[in-house]
Amino acid sequence: MNIFILSLAIMLMIGFSDMALANNGIPKAGPDGAKLYVDKGCVACHGENANIPSQPQYPKLAGQNKEYTIAQIDDIKNGLRTNGYSIVMRGTIIVDHREIELIAEWLETLPIDLIEDEFKNTKGAELFKSKSCNTCHGDDTKSPSLPIYPKLAGQDKDYSFTQMKDIKSGKRNNGNSAAMQGVLSDVTEQEIKIIAEWLESLVENKSNLSPE
Ligand code: HEC
Ligand code: HEC
Repeated sequence: MNIFILSLAIMLMIGFSDMALANNGIPKAGPDGAKLYVDKGCVACHGENANIPSQPQYPKLAGQNKEYTIAQIDDIKNGLRTNGYSIVMRGTIIVDHREIELIAEWLETLPIDLIEDEFKNTKGAELFKSKSCNTCHGDDTKSPSLPIYPKLAGQDKDYSFTQMKDIKSGKRNNGNSAAMQGVLSDVTEQEIKIIAEWLESLVENKSNLSPE
């Protein structure tokens, strides 16, 4: 209990010093987050600009919601998310919560530029609506109904495919996965594959982009 109160107090103090910085006109978070991303080794697996993972089955992180990112890193760090290749990352996590926040804030500033044509008459777009994925992830796949829900546009197809299968089977059950699990009972593996490929096709390779 004491530890809980102590960490609450520390969080508040950090919050206030953060506000003070912002008030003095000193840029918040951005550059530090980018530097931490490299210094803490995230770049080795998630790649330059968090957009070119070293393996296709690893996720892109660029543009992702801050809240979702923080929650997932915490869950991987604490062993609550253990599906897929999470174990690979867990062993390398040497960031404290404040550093996680700074990295997540920076990641959110990275752009996700959609290719609008991919929404017209494609099987993936049709499934995304008919299976009601849009109700939580947004019509454009990157405007989730809650900030703790993920953006999906541009994500690697191998990664998305595995995550959907794992949420369906319950292998991935951390965070708010249960909210999505029910929907997937009506989605076949073939449909999951089509959606995963479509999601990746929504964004051009952004390897040359830098933060906005
Ligand atoms: C050794 C490789 C490796 C390193 C280093 C690494 N990660 Fe990961 N990370 C992964 C893998 C693999 C996954 C996906 C796990 C899975 O298969 O479900 C992942 C998942 C994530 C996710 C969840 C993404 C999503 O869409 O749900 C976030 C956020 C993340 N990593 C952030 C970071 C940050 C920030 C760092 C640096 C502090 C970092 N990672 C370091 C390999 C790594
Ligand atoms: C009721 C809300 C809801 C619906 C409907 C829903 N999802 Fe999700 N989805 C979520 C949540 C919440 C998560 C993240 C779970 C967590 O907190 O770890 C998620 C995670 C995902 C992920 C993994 C993202 C990542 O970066 O790891 C993919 C891919 C995905 N959803 C695709 C879909 C598709 C495709 C559909 C339709 C077949 C769908 N979702 C329907 C809420 C929903």
